[in-house]
Amino acid sequence: MKFTTLLLSGLAALTTAQTAAPYTDAKSGITFNAFIGSTGYFFGIALPANSTSSNTDFIATIGGKGTGWSGVSLGGGMLNKLLVVAWPNAQAIVSSFRKTANYGSPAVATGTFTQTPIANGTYVNATHWTYTFLCSKCILSDKTTFAPTDLTASFGYALNAAAPAQKTNPASSVAKHTSQGQVSLDLKKAQSASFESWRSWAVKSAVTVAVKREWEG
Ligand code: HEM
Repeated sequence: MKFTTLLLSGLAALTTAQTAAPYTDAKSGITFNAFIGSTGYFFGIALPANSTSSNTDFIATIGGKGTGWSGVSLGGGMLNKLLVVAWPNAQAIVSSFRKTANYGSPAVATGTFTQTPIANGTYVNATHWTYTFLCSKCILSDKTTFAPTDLTASFGYALNAAAPAQKTNPASSVAKHTSQGQVSLDLKKAQSASFESWRSWAVKSAVTVAVKREWEG
């Protein structure tokens, strides 16, 4: 490869890079270790202080700009990993777990894992949309997610600025991402002594209007 090509591809990598950093949501006050992309995509995670290997829960925030979808892979890659996909529908957020063994729109995944919205961290405003939720039984030991003992983990990000075909339907197919990749996050930096208090904000009934969840059909 010529030097100029190398330099150019280096620059391209830089401009699409996702930067890992602590991030506090302005409305909920929850602090995450997060990565924030140049497109407005972001994903953040918060864990209990001194999270032990028996912990299976975390709080996540995911969002973007406009009306397209944002997705995260809890295991890094796309295939055979637990994915979460979310997008805005007017003032509401629509989200579901997904999993697939093939490259294509992933089907809704079912299991014991659940996502319960945190209302004060779930909103659509003039600049972006944000979905904050308690992910319960989401840290699995079957290699579909990062492991309970991991101190750092690779998360996959994927997004498309185009809204899904049926944006009121959490099971809607989505078009292939226009940007995707993996970012490593330091899970120690995601731990917080406030986790249990933040967890108590996750209420299923509080946001049935704001968030349609996959188990509601
Ligand atoms: C029609 C829908 C989709 C298609 C056709 C598709 C296809 C692909 C393909 C072919 C790749 C390999 C890289 C490339 O060639 O671009 C890939 C990577 C990836 N996809 Fe998808 N995808 C779809 C939806 C999704 C969704 C909804 C997510 C949600 C999280 C996702 C997450 C990822 C991630 C994280 C990677 C990067 C994996 C890595 O770096 O190893 N994809 N996808």
